[in-house]
Amino acid sequence: MSHLAERRRQNPAQTIPAILPRGAPKEHTDETMHKIPMYKANAYSAASATSSLAATTIARRDPTEPDVQIEILFCGICHSDLHQVRNEWSGVMPTVYPCVPGHEIVGRVTKVGSAVTKFKPGDVAAVGCMVDSDRTCAECQAGLEQFCRNVTLTYNFPDKHLGGVTYGGYSDSIVVDERFVMHVPSNLHLAGVAPLLCAGITTYSPMRHWGVTKGKKVGVVGLGGLGHMAVKFAHALGAQVVVFTTSPNKKDDAIRLGADEVVVSRNSNEMKKQAGSFDFILDAVSADHDINAYIDLLRRDGNITLVGAPEKPLAVAAFGLLFGRRSLSGSPIGGLPETQEMLDFCGTHNITADVEVIPIQKVNEAYDRLLKSDVKYRFSIDLASLKSH
Ligand SMILES: NC(=O)c1ccc[n+]([C@@H]2O[C@H](COP(=O)([O-])OP(=O)(O)OC[C@H]3O[C@@H](n4cnc5c(N)ncnc54)[C@H](OP(=O)(O)O)[C@@H]3O)[C@@H](O)[C@H]2O)c1
Ligand SMILES: [Zn+2]
Ligand SMILES: [Zn+2]
Repeated sequence: MSHLAERRRQNPAQTIPAILPRGAPKEHTDETMHKIPMYKANAYSAASATSSLAATTIARRDPTEPDVQIEILFCGICHSDLHQVRNEWSGVMPTVYPCVPGHEIVGRVTKVGSAVTKFKPGDVAAVGCMVDSDRTCAECQAGLEQFCRNVTLTYNFPDKHLGGVTYGGYSDSIVVDERFVMHVPSNLHLAGVAPLLCAGITTYSPMRHWGVTKGKKVGVVGLGGLGHMAVKFAHALGAQVVVFTTSPNKKDDAIRLGADEVVVSRNSNEMKKQAGSFDFILDAVSADHDINAYIDLLRRDGNITLVGAPEKPLAVAAFGLLFGRRSLSGSPIGGLPETQEMLDFCGTHNITADVEVIPIQKVNEAYDRLLKSDVKYRFSIDLASLKSH
């Protein structure tokens, strides 16, 4: 059991981590159903950790005053969706079923509440990993909603409006408070925009925080959905970029995406040549791996930031950090202002994700391929496919 889960077990009332759903989510009772006007949306959900995703219908609230209703056009498939659907993070964020994943959402506004000022019907709009927060705490006031202790994530978090848990973007429609809805630069293609809402901000934010810029040597570990966005951003920010991959067949792509050099991480000679040379490394690996091999590649005071969230804990050798005063940190997604900044940066630099567009009916096959690192480099679900249900 994780440290966080253990603390929660000892004191369930204590509000500790920002990322935990607090308390057992309420069912959609007849009482709530009658009080809150709602409509049915089509979606794909998993019924258990071992079930495939399948077609279903879910309740969405009718837009209230500050809400925007969005017809979802594309939703990216993040590896976090797979972790969550299969309950691989049970110690920290146990999955509540049925689970409708998806937090890389782009679509068109279909309706707005009377207090909405930023959007009108017909606008393109995007939603990422968060749909609400308390807005009053120091983190929210600093625009760092990802650290708010009362954040509501886009799926698998208690739904304040309807009871139950929030349902994500594997759906044809969603309703979100406009504060948590982003504008999309008009020059970008929408299938490739969707993944920016998680893979994009999750890689952009730590690079900005750790000062990735011209003259810095930056490593990116794992060329998947997050990794390929990290390469694009590090290159656009002017850094020297080295990709570490377990897949030799991704070498040419890595260079095309903006890497200056590619190292096949299973080759220890190639790894040794890079020792002690990096200012910053972003680790975007989804599975168990030896992080010490990368810590050793940092120069004095270098930092390695984990964005990957493997199921099992990683073992860290103390001396790798001690020698060279190196640091290891983590980073979750990014706040609302920085997410909009990232989208605008993408507009200016013409950056989108490299996507393989799939109909929702292929989502289970896509999950299997994700586990084999067989995607170049993000699946983007075309939600028009859901209309055929
Ligand atoms: N911090 C956050 O807020 C945040 C946000 C989103 C996602 N995540 C997490 O970030 C991780 C990556 O997500 P993603 O969507 O980018 O996943 P992904 O597309 O599946 O990419 C993961 C990459 O990791 C590498 N990899 C996979 N298995 C490996 C192994 N056994 N050993 C070494 N390398 C391996 C592969 O790259 P190569 O083929 O190049 O080796 C693979 O393409 C997931 O754990 C996800 O949950 C965290
Ligand atoms: Zn994600
Ligand atoms: Zn807050």
